[in-house]
Amino acid sequence: MTAIRLRSPGPVPGLLFFRRRIAAAARGAADNAAMNSAYLWVKAFHIVFVAAWFAGLFYLPRLFVNLAMVASGSHAERERLLLMSRKLYRFATLLMVLALALGLVLWLGYGVGSGAGWMHAKLALVVATIGYHHFCRSLLRGFEQSANRRSERWYRVFNESSVLLFAATVVLVVVKPF
Ligand code: HEM
Repeated sequence: MTAIRLRSPGPVPGLLFFRRRIAAAARGAADNAAMNSAYLWVKAFHIVFVAAWFAGLFYLPRLFVNLAMVASGSHAERERLLLMSRKLYRFATLLMVLALALGLVLWLGYGVGSGAGWMHAKLALVVATIGYHHFCRSLLRGFEQSANRRSERWYRVFNESSVLLFAATVVLVVVKPF
């Protein structure tokens, strides 16, 4: 009697093709998910640093309002407010650098908003916000040199412009109107 040797079933060529496609798609989906997750982490910290930076920009002019109101004889109060302002400015500068660096990663690294109208408008507002930040430094210098000529009312109005910058930037990036 002739023995019949049975072979284990080999891969069916058609099925193998589909299995490879499915495995490749699963790998692609896993890569996308990992990239998506990294992107979301970067965006989350971008928002955290932006919020913290603006907290500094909201509070610094409040300190200037107080500095502008200090009576000429209150040396200790003036020095205390100047120290608080210097520390807050330094910390806000660090937060600004981190917020901008992560924003650049989202824009140039992940390509979000490339060529979009809302992104150009947002960048213009970001430049204005950086200008506002540096203007705060020169106002602080004015107080340090006892050269401030502006009223506390002026500083109150100045304070509001950072709120407008913040609101306009958030609307642009969330609503993306154009
Ligand atoms: C160099 C400066 C900046 C660049 C290049 C930048 C870029 C970006 C990009 C590409 C996104 C992702 C948008 C999306 O997922 O649809 C984003 C998100 C965001 N950015 Fe910025 N950004 C910068 C500064 C700022 C500033 C100053 C603010 C202050 C208000 C801000 C607020 C936000 C907010 C709130 C989001 C979240 C939007 C959302 O998820 O819907 N960014 N940024």
